[in-house]
Amino acid sequence: MTTLVTGGAGYIGSHVARLLQDRGERVVIVDERSPRSGERAALAFHELDLLAPGADQELGSIIRDEGVDAIIHFAARKRVDESVARPGWYYQQNVGGLTALLGALHGTEVRRVVFSSSAAVYGDVDGGQVAEDAPTRPVNPYGRTKLIGEWMLADTANVEPIAAASLRYFNVAGAGWPDLGDPESLNLVTIVLDRIRRGLPPVVYGDDYDTPDGSAIRDYVHVLDLAQAHVAALDHLVGRTGHRVFNVGTGVGTSVIEVLDMISEVTGIAFEPEIASRRAGDPAAVVARVERITEELGWRAQHDLRDIIASAWEAHRFSR
Ligand SMILES: NC(=O)c1ccc[n+]([C@@H]2O[C@H](COP(=O)([O-])OP(=O)(O)OC[C@H]3O[C@@H](n4cnc5c(N)ncnc54)[C@H](O)[C@@H]3O)[C@@H](O)[C@H]2O)c1
Repeated sequence: MTTLVTGGAGYIGSHVARLLQDRGERVVIVDERSPRSGERAALAFHELDLLAPGADQELGSIIRDEGVDAIIHFAARKRVDESVARPGWYYQQNVGGLTALLGALHGTEVRRVVFSSSAAVYGDVDGGQVAEDAPTRPVNPYGRTKLIGEWMLADTANVEPIAAASLRYFNVAGAGWPDLGDPESLNLVTIVLDRIRRGLPPVVYGDDYDTPDGSAIRDYVHVLDLAQAHVAALDHLVGRTGHRVFNVGTGVGTSVIEVLDMISEVTGIAFEPEIASRRAGDPAAVVARVERITEELGWRAQHDLRDIIASAWEAHRFSR
C-alpha cells in the first residue's frame, strides 16, 4: 500500500508519515516545503504547491507513477485570525487545494481519502460535549473552508470509487517525537511554553466563564493519538464506500487554568498568569463526544494532559 500525504512536512502530517513508515508502509509526501523527517530514506517527496497552475495534472502523474492507493490531505492554511483578515485567500488556498486533489484522483487507483477537518466546523457550541450530528455553524472563514471540504469530499465519494473520512480535530498539542514538535505558537500549550521560556507571564483570556474555575474549557488531544486516528481511519475505509465524519478528541474537558497548572508542574517553572478579557467568539466549553470513533474505528486516546505537556516541553527545548 502506498499512501500520499499532502502537507506531510507539517506538524501533524509528519507524525502520520512517520507512523505509517514505522508500520512498514510506503509514504509519498507532497508539500510546498521539505519534510523535517526528510532524512528517512523510505520517504518519497515531491515539492509542489497545490495552487500552482497545472498542479492537479502534476498530482495526477505523481499518484499514477508512485502507485498511490490512499490519500491523507493535510495541506491547508490553519490560522483563524488570518482567515478573518484574508477570507478570499483562505477559500482559494483550502478549497482550491482540495479541488486540485479531487480532480487529480479521478481515473487513478486511489480508493481511500482521509481529510483534515476541524472542530471549528461546529462554531459556537452551547456547552457540554459536541457530537458529529450537532449543527455545523462555523464562525470564521477557516472553519467554513473545512466544512466546504467535507461537503466536497462527500459529493466526490458519491461519484468516484472511493471511501472517505473527515476527521474533526479538537485541540491538538504535544509531540510524538522531540524533533516533530509544533514549530508554531498558535495553540495554548505552545504559546504558554514560548512565553514562560522568555520570562513572560501567560495570558488567560476570560476568567468569568460559567465553568468551575471561570476559564474556558477545551478538549486537548495528543498529536500521536491523532496520528493513530488517521491510521485507524485508513484501515477502516478498506473495501467501503461513502463518506463519514468522526470527532477526534478525548471526551475530557480541561480548563485553561488546569493547563497552566500542569505546565508549571511539568516544567518546574512558577508563574503568575495575566488575566485578560474574553476574546470574541471564544465559547465557554468545547469538548468532543467520542463514541462514534471509538465504536466504529476502535480508536481511543491513550495519552493524558501530562503526556501532552511533557512531550511538548521536550520538543520545545529540542528545537530552541
Ligand atoms: N494543528 C491543529 O491544531 C489543527 C486543528 C484542526 C485542524 N487542523 C488541520 O490539520 C491540517 C494540518 O495541520 P498542521 O497543524 O500540521 O499544519 P502545518 O501548517 O504544520 O502543516 C500544513 C502543511 O501543509 C503545507 N501546505 C499548505 N498549503 C499548501 C499548498 N497549497 N501546497 C502544498 N503544501 C501546502 C504546508 O507547507 C505545511 O507543511 C491542516 O489542514 C489544518 O487545518 C489542524
